[in-house]
Amino acid sequence: DRLFPEKWLLLLMKYLPSPKKTFPALFNLFRQGFLPSDQVQIFGYARSALTDGGLRDRLRGYLKPAKTDPSKDPSSVVKAFLDLITYISGPYNTEEGYLKLEEAVARHEELTSGKKGETRRLFYLALPPSVYPVVSGMIKKCCMNQRGWTRVVIEKPFGKDIASSDKLSNQLGQLFSEEEIYRIDHYLGKEVVQNLLVMRFANRFFLPLWNRDNIDNVQIVFKEDFGTEGRGGYFDEYGIIRDIIQNHLSQVLCLVAMEKPVSLNPEDIRDEKVKVLKAIEPIKDDEVVLGQYDGYLDDPTVPKDSNTPTFATIVLRIHNERWDGVPFIMKAGKALDSRKAEIRVQFKDVPGDIYRCQKQGRNEFVMRLQPSEAMYMKLTVKQPGLEMSATQSELDLSYRQRYQDIVIPEAYERLLLDTIRGDQQHFVRRDELRAAWEIFTPLLHRIDRGEFKSVKYPEGSRGPPEADRLTEQVGYVRTHGYIWIPPSLQ
Ligand code: BG6
Repeated sequence: DRLFPEKWLLLLMKYLPSPKKTFPALFNLFRQGFLPSDQVQIFGYARSALTDGGLRDRLRGYLKPAKTDPSKDPSSVVKAFLDLITYISGPYNTEEGYLKLEEAVARHEELTSGKKGETRRLFYLALPPSVYPVVSGMIKKCCMNQRGWTRVVIEKPFGKDIASSDKLSNQLGQLFSEEEIYRIDHYLGKEVVQNLLVMRFANRFFLPLWNRDNIDNVQIVFKEDFGTEGRGGYFDEYGIIRDIIQNHLSQVLCLVAMEKPVSLNPEDIRDEKVKVLKAIEPIKDDEVVLGQYDGYLDDPTVPKDSNTPTFATIVLRIHNERWDGVPFIMKAGKALDSRKAEIRVQFKDVPGDIYRCQKQGRNEFVMRLQPSEAMYMKLTVKQPGLEMSATQSELDLSYRQRYQDIVIPEAYERLLLDTIRGDQQHFVRRDELRAAWEIFTPLLHRIDRGEFKSVKYPEGSRGPPEADRLTEQVGYVRTHGYIWIPPSLQ
């Protein structure tokens, strides 16, 4: 399935061609044979006045040929990829640029596929959401495909609350059908996130345990060890809840908590995800801790009196038969003591436990999304040796060790391939997006009105101590004297 039967084109619409994620992802697909040169053409479209060569020069530094490339001369792979890229510049709100784009695309299609050939156009919009409607409107007016499919990929933020998100969805919905819209949440492209459903539903181990009778609490954690770094302007308008929790962590929560879908059909999976979101109860004030790191206000692009949280711990409660009473602790923060993202499922104590006084902690099942992808189960075992004592250890599936020859694809790489193949499973459906906004909008509005304050925390710390207290209050028990260390390669 490496080849596409028909010609297709990828059109990248960008404010400024920002090469960090999308182009390297495309390049990696190209390197691996997923974007055959004779079937793909990439058009960049943005406002900056650049030539094809100018864009290629900008991109070159970001494209790293792998050591394993079959080609003897790695730079020739880069060159072959760059040769696929054409650049058109134009404004995003008037027709002239789009007509130029349409002309260039149509010319290319005629040259390569003949008049009757089916063509495919994938528009990737990496733009501020305020211009999505106008840009999509222009695409619809000037650049629609007459003889094959058109797909539109959009990136977050999809609005700022339920009302603005609905508005955006309506505007886009008038132009494109839901089957044509791919809302990217790149967390859905991460390897371990993609493993969640397989783990949960293909293994007998988990089936009987995955519920309120056995699980005490679940944490879904995102930590970064750097601040907003030049993105203060964008970030201050959104804050950590909109930036990370409403989208990335909520998507992960859905996969952890959803019921088994009737099939692997993307719609069946997304139906179950929506049900989880709809079953989430209103957030309680005393189950929220907001923080802002000390140096945040020094960023010149951030207003001096900003209350925007750069950290949040929020307890979500799912009101259904499986999860009633189990807190889902969502924690996300910038400028913390480490960088990691993980899902930590903590099990209840063993009833009538005869080893209680020797225990270091409870059973936990941890899925480490990054860095060092891994899944490990923390359990109590006999300390090897003559003494009869118990200790905490783990069953560890660390990807770096177990899958040494496999290069784990970047999230964008995988998701781009899905858009080409037409698989919407790992994209956010309109009703899903709405349900996620519904959960967080009341809290967000109160924060925006200054009614809910962020507490300060030092850069490089664990975040506000109030957050740890909340986590423990709702049931999380810290393990003592044990720490999991990702095994290094032998
Ligand atoms: C983005 C957020 O969606 O995800 C950023 O806007 C954040 O603030 C980034 O840094 C994290 O992505 P990753 O893949 O590095 O965990």
